[in-house]
Amino acid sequence: MLEVNGLTKSFGSLHVLKGVNMQVEKGEMVALMGPSGSGKSTLLNIIGGLLAGDGGSITLDNRTYGKKGPSSVVDVRRSKVGWIFQDFHLLDNLSALDNVAIALELSGIPSNEAVEAAEVALTKVGLGDRLNFIPDQLSGGQQQRVAIARAIAGNRPVLLADEPTGNLDIASGKDVMKLFKELCHDETNPISILMVTHDPDLASTADRMLLLNDGKTEASDIRSAWGLDEDGEEE
Ligand SMILES: Nc1ncnc2c1ncn2[C@@H]1O[C@H](COP(=O)(O)OP(=O)(O)OP(=O)(O)O)[C@@H](O)[C@H]1O
Ligand SMILES: [Mg+2]
Repeated sequence: MLEVNGLTKSFGSLHVLKGVNMQVEKGEMVALMGPSGSGKSTLLNIIGGLLAGDGGSITLDNRTYGKKGPSSVVDVRRSKVGWIFQDFHLLDNLSALDNVAIALELSGIPSNEAVEAAEVALTKVGLGDRLNFIPDQLSGGQQQRVAIARAIAGNRPVLLADEPTGNLDIASGKDVMKLFKELCHDETNPISILMVTHDPDLASTADRMLLLNDGKTEASDIRSAWGLDEDGEEE
């Protein structure tokens, strides 16, 4: 589904990504961890077509890119990946329904179809009874659900989430993880999620964990990455 091969990226003399190789399968939820400044957001931005890499390639759903600038991967941003951010990025004055619908309209879907698809997506994330609420009338967890509905509407096969639970309390964070898993493991229409988190508990609910360290990703189990022994105690 998503394959990254030998991806490199530097900012001036700072070599952030030094040949990242990784894959995310269809229906898989992968947690990406790593120290602050290790390049997690940079990697997501290149996969999401917001930033060009220096070398290597990305293959997503039969589309290959990686070194192309943002203007050459409009289709990736429009139809291949959905984004979830820490601070939701919702429009304050629009209802949940319009927040999701406007994103679809911007990608060229006719208004009536966009509203229908928005309602389906919001129902899927459990907000079918909150369609006309504006963000201020929703809890943080519910606002993040609106953002998730916006990201999955339009049938995007991959969801990129950069610290999606960073602004949520523990219970709401766990709810978001549960929803992510349901979306990945949906039998009729599974998607793939690549999610950055600093929280080892939440990362451990993913199907697999990757650690970005010294410019490369490595498979990792949660405990060894955090220096915990089998009882969860620090070694
Ligand atoms: N546009 C840019 N110009 C110059 N340096 C940048 C740019 N974007 C990121 N960097 C640098 O690249 C490194 C990786 O940044 P990035 O934001 O990807 O880290 P991160 O792993 O997401 O960190 P955090 O966990 O704190 O969010 C940092 O040292 C950062 O300062
Ligand atoms: Mg970051």
